[in-house]
Amino acid sequence: MNAILSPDQYVVIGNPIAHSKSPAIHARFASLCKQHMEYQPLLAPLDGFAASVAAFRDGGGKGANVTVPFKLQAYALATQLTARAQLAGAVNTLSFSGNEIFGDNTDGVGLVNDIVRNAGKTLKGKRVLLLGAGGAARGVLLPLLSEQPSELVIANRTLSKAEELLVLAQQHGAGSVKLQACEWAVLSGRFDVIINATSASLSDELPPISATLFDAHTLAYDMMYGAQLTAFLRFAQTQGAQLRDGLGMLVEQAAESFYIWRGVRPDTAMLLLELREALELP
Ligand code: ATR
Repeated sequence: MNAILSPDQYVVIGNPIAHSKSPAIHARFASLCKQHMEYQPLLAPLDGFAASVAAFRDGGGKGANVTVPFKLQAYALATQLTARAQLAGAVNTLSFSGNEIFGDNTDGVGLVNDIVRNAGKTLKGKRVLLLGAGGAARGVLLPLLSEQPSELVIANRTLSKAEELLVLAQQHGAGSVKLQACEWAVLSGRFDVIINATSASLSDELPPISATLFDAHTLAYDMMYGAQLTAFLRFAQTQGAQLRDGLGMLVEQAAESFYIWRGVRPDTAMLLLELREALELP
């Protein structure tokens, strides 16, 4: 007689965590891909991330997503890191196997897959502008470079931080991509894709960028999403640009984590539509 196997266990660890959409997204992926697994939210104390991971692992847990404020601690905890996690300096996906803790970062590939597959916009050979040089911008750097845009301009309020990202990108080998770091005032010419990775949207502020950077073919991408368009997307709208919020990135980074753990790639299109409707997003 076959024993009934208990489902493989996964969690998303953060603080706070109750708001996380990851459990619902992964439950849908599991049912679509017929995977015998469970995925729960796990609230870790602010001073207890490593202990929470250890307890979950000891209980047989297979993998974890990591969110605010623990992505840097997850990076430190991992015994092996992918190149994209190394360049990101942060980890959002842990996989446990024997004594090893594998750390990856799926945020950047989530962004790229949303732009290329869902929005149908190629990045290869294009002029791309990345606004911001904090953790969110750093997290997407390597996957963006891997698409081989002709040019990647990193613009930030604090120039030195944009320059640090530029050096990191160069160290990892930018290939033929023309790299530039600058402040807002120096930006010129139109871009094919403009990605807002600043946290300005949280306070409904707009990085002081010129309207001349956009035209009707520009994809304006905000990594954030909400019930209203962000200040950045509203500005881009008035320039006639194509608009995209960060919901697709959320779903695609989850799909990449799921693929790392389960070896199957869920179809994201239907879920993305359902989620947008359920959240009543524009
Ligand atoms: P995150 O993890 O969300 O990236 P972060 O590491 O604190 O957060 O980085 C925030 C980014 O948003 C930085 O690039 C920051 O610019 P500075 O490096 O000059 O601080 C940028 N940012 C935050 N508020 C902004 C605003 N109102 N206008 C323009 N840029 C802003």
